[in-house]
Amino acid sequence: MKPNDYYKEQFDHKPTKEMYDCIFDISKRSGYKNALEIGVAWAISTMAILQAGSGKLLSVDKSLYQNTIDQVHEYGLQDRWTYLVRESSCLKELGGQYDLICIDGDHRYEYVKEDLNNSLKFKPKVIIIDDYNHRYNFEEREDQYGVKKAVDEFVKENNFKLIVHKKANGIGEVKCEY
Ligand SMILES: C[S@@+](CC[C@H](N)C(=O)[O-])C[C@H]1O[C@@H](n2cnc3c(N)ncnc32)[C@H](O)[C@@H]1O
Repeated sequence: MKPNDYYKEQFDHKPTKEMYDCIFDISKRSGYKNALEIGVAWAISTMAILQAGSGKLLSVDKSLYQNTIDQVHEYGLQDRWTYLVRESSCLKELGGQYDLICIDGDHRYEYVKEDLNNSLKFKPKVIIIDDYNHRYNFEEREDQYGVKKAVDEFVKENNFKLIVHKKANGIGEVKCEY
């Protein structure tokens, strides 16, 4: 990608650039036709997925991020993109098939586990999870992350394979074989 001023600034932050590159690589390898992501915020994962392939992306976030809309339009990717401003629990109401899913929403255990379980019915081939090794997973705090715990349980329960990329704060790649 040729970074505009916004991405130049984002990519000055090493973990952000690593996150973009890692999600880009996984998405490209997946050759996705239909992708779904939870968590839009700074337009990093959204742009990585869109730029890595030629399929469609549905992004779900409980908040509206105008900057992400602007970035997607600036790069001319809007025809392959839908933005749903909803709680991620809305996945329960959605149908269809998504071969690539990227989860980066609420990082607390119950939410991550619910997002993972709700993803199953879409029969994804790959699920990307950000912050698998983020230090907040290992610290006692009010908003403690439960990404690692939820992913480890999910992988075990479904007999899937997990690769953890040691990039940014640890990016999980769950390979789903049925
Ligand atoms: C870490 S940020 C996502 C960063 C984004 N993936 C990126 O690369 O720029 C987490 C996002 O999850 C969203 N979020 C948190 N809880 C959510 C929920 N229950 N349903 C939907 N979105 C949620 C927040 O609004 C926020 O945009």
